[in-house]
Amino acid sequence: MKITVTGSLGNISKPLAKQLIAAGHEVTVVSSNPDKKADIEALGATAAIGSIGDAEFLSSAFSGADVVYTMVPPSFAVNDYRKYASDLAHSYAAAIKSAGIKRIVNLSSIGADVDGGTGPIAGMHDAEQILNAMPDVAVKHIRPGIFYVNLYANIGMIKNLGFNGANYSADTRLVLVHPNDIAAVIAEEISGSFTGKSVRFVSSDESTAGAVTTALGVAIGQPDLKWVEFTTEQAIGGMIQAGVPDYFAHLYAEMYTAINTGILWTAYDAAGTKPTGKTKLADFAKEFAIVYGA
Ligand SMILES: NC(=O)c1ccc[n+]([C@@H]2O[C@H](COP(=O)([O-])OP(=O)(O)OC[C@H]3O[C@@H](n4cnc5c(N)ncnc54)[C@H](OP(=O)(O)O)[C@@H]3O)[C@@H](O)[C@H]2O)c1
Repeated sequence: MKITVTGSLGNISKPLAKQLIAAGHEVTVVSSNPDKKADIEALGATAAIGSIGDAEFLSSAFSGADVVYTMVPPSFAVNDYRKYASDLAHSYAAAIKSAGIKRIVNLSSIGADVDGGTGPIAGMHDAEQILNAMPDVAVKHIRPGIFYVNLYANIGMIKNLGFNGANYSADTRLVLVHPNDIAAVIAEEISGSFTGKSVRFVSSDESTAGAVTTALGVAIGQPDLKWVEFTTEQAIGGMIQAGVPDYFAHLYAEMYTAINTGILWTAYDAAGTKPTGKTKLADFAKEFAIVYGA
């Protein structure tokens, strides 16, 4: 099949492109950066260089594809994330219409059923609605849990302060997922035969903030590493100090509060989802130790 993958060589798109190419598909990868062209071609894919905000460019990148993988990249450059995500979803919808695409797999998020109070995830809620409004296009929304790789952002805290933490408690439930496991589910859906509009959750493991911290601590040779619960104000201050723009520090703190209340997991649980991804917390902890030591 001919497949266009957005998201460049990011967390999900790189393993996804590799898996699709290994399965014999003809893959085009969209990147905004001309410097990525050689790396994309080295994978065996065609590079389409341009912005996903440019519907005309996207339409040519999608042209002839049997299936398109869409996603909203994170961006610290914006100050209204819901508008940013909606604008990109409208750009995708326009390109999908003009290129005559009939099937798309869209990267959404756990908690995307909730309309607000969930930080950046509310942008995924809006994007789902916009893509669902396209008539005669089959759309499969993939709703992953929290990426393990987010924990790399805590390396500075662990190294400089000697603990891990956020504005929720050690016994807060976390639904976690490895990018490779998400890519595997997306590749499976692309090769499958979904119709209509539907949602699929994906997770690799479930744990708590405290148990995640212990697993990472053991892997980096600090078995006594502790989780510290901050106030929301402390969490926001810490993120700003670490270089996160003020707007995003508030947005992430809102998402962490949603993690604390458990509202992000409601639809995931209602769907009876189990963590079927291959990469368990102990496996990721080994990857974390390598990055931590590098
Ligand atoms: N982190 C989580 O816990 C979590 C949980 C659930 C869902 N999600 C979803 O996952 C998404 C992120 O996926 P990911 O981690 O695979 O992304 P990623 O690794 O951040 O990669 C996205 C890539 O998209 C490209 N890009 C950015 N702006 C672009 C533009 N205007 N036009 C074309 N390409 C552009 C960039 O590469 P170039 O520089 O090469 O263009 C960027 O590296 C989130 O936004 C969210 O929707 C995340």
